[in-house]
Amino acid sequence: MREETRNIHDPDFVKEVFDRCGRNYRYWSAVASFGFIRRWRRQCVASLPLPDSHGTQGVDLMAGTGEVWPHLLRRHPGIARITAIDISHQMHLQAVARLHRGRENRIEHLEANVLTRDLPGASADFVVATFGLKTFDPAQQRRLAAQIARLLRPGGGFALVEATDPTGWALRPLYRFYLDRVLPLVERLFLRGAQDFAMLGIYTRGFRDCGQMAEALRAEGLTVTETRLFFGCAGLLSGRKPA
Ligand SMILES: C[S@@+](CC[C@H](N)C(=O)[O-])C[C@H]1O[C@@H](n2cnc3c(N)ncnc32)[C@H](O)[C@@H]1O
Repeated sequence: MREETRNIHDPDFVKEVFDRCGRNYRYWSAVASFGFIRRWRRQCVASLPLPDSHGTQGVDLMAGTGEVWPHLLRRHPGIARITAIDISHQMHLQAVARLHRGRENRIEHLEANVLTRDLPGASADFVVATFGLKTFDPAQQRRLAAQIARLLRPGGGFALVEATDPTGWALRPLYRFYLDRVLPLVERLFLRGAQDFAMLGIYTRGFRDCGQMAEALRAEGLTVTETRLFFGCAGLLSGRKPA
C-alpha cells in the first residue's frame, strides 16, 4: 500500500517504520540531532522524581534500542528492574545486541503495543519515555496517559521527553528547513532512498508540543511539570501519582 494512503498513527505502520530503520537508529538520531538527543535523555532522567532508587522497579515505554538505560542506571544505581516495552522487533534486537549486555538481570524486554497491552496496575515506582510520544495522535496520548497512571504505584514518578516544534523561536524556519528538507535528502542519499527518518520530522510537526500529553496526564490525576528545552526543540514532562 502507498505510504500516503496509510494512517501514520496506526501502530502497525509505526512498527514497520522502526523495524526498517532500527539498525541505523542509534547513530542517525545522535548525528542528526548534533548530540542533543543524549543531553535531552540525561535531562529527562534528571527530572525523574525517584528519591530512593534502592530496589525500585520501573518501565521504559517505547524503549527502542534502550538508549536511556545507561543514564537511568548511572543516576539511580539502586534500580532493580526496568521493563522495556517496544512494539518493534528490530529495535529490541538492537537493544539486546548492544545495551543489554551486563544488565541482563535488570532489563526485561516486552515486545508489545503499549496502548493495548494489559500491564499490571500499580506495579511501577517510575515510568520513563524518551522520544516515544510523537507517533501518537491526541486520542492515543490520552490512552497512554491512562496507561501511565495505571502502571504507577501511588507516589511513583514519571519523566517523558519528546522532540517538539519550537514555535516562536526566531530560528524556527531554519530548524524546520533542516528537519523537513536537509535530513530527508541526506537520508535518501546515504541510506539508499530510505525515507523512514524523514517520517520522524513529519511526526514532530504533527505532535507540535507536549501540551496535550500534559493535559491528558493531569486528567488522570497526575501532577505534571512542563519544561521547554533548547528554545522548545524538545519538551519535558515530569511528575508524580499522588501518594
Ligand atoms: C524514536 S524511538 C525512541 C526510542 C528510545 N526511547 C530513544 O530514546 O531513542 C520511538 C520508539 O517508540 C516505539 N513505539 C511507537 N509506538 C509504539 C507503541 N504503540 N507501543 C510500543 N512501542 C511503540 C517505536 O517502535 C520506537 O522504537
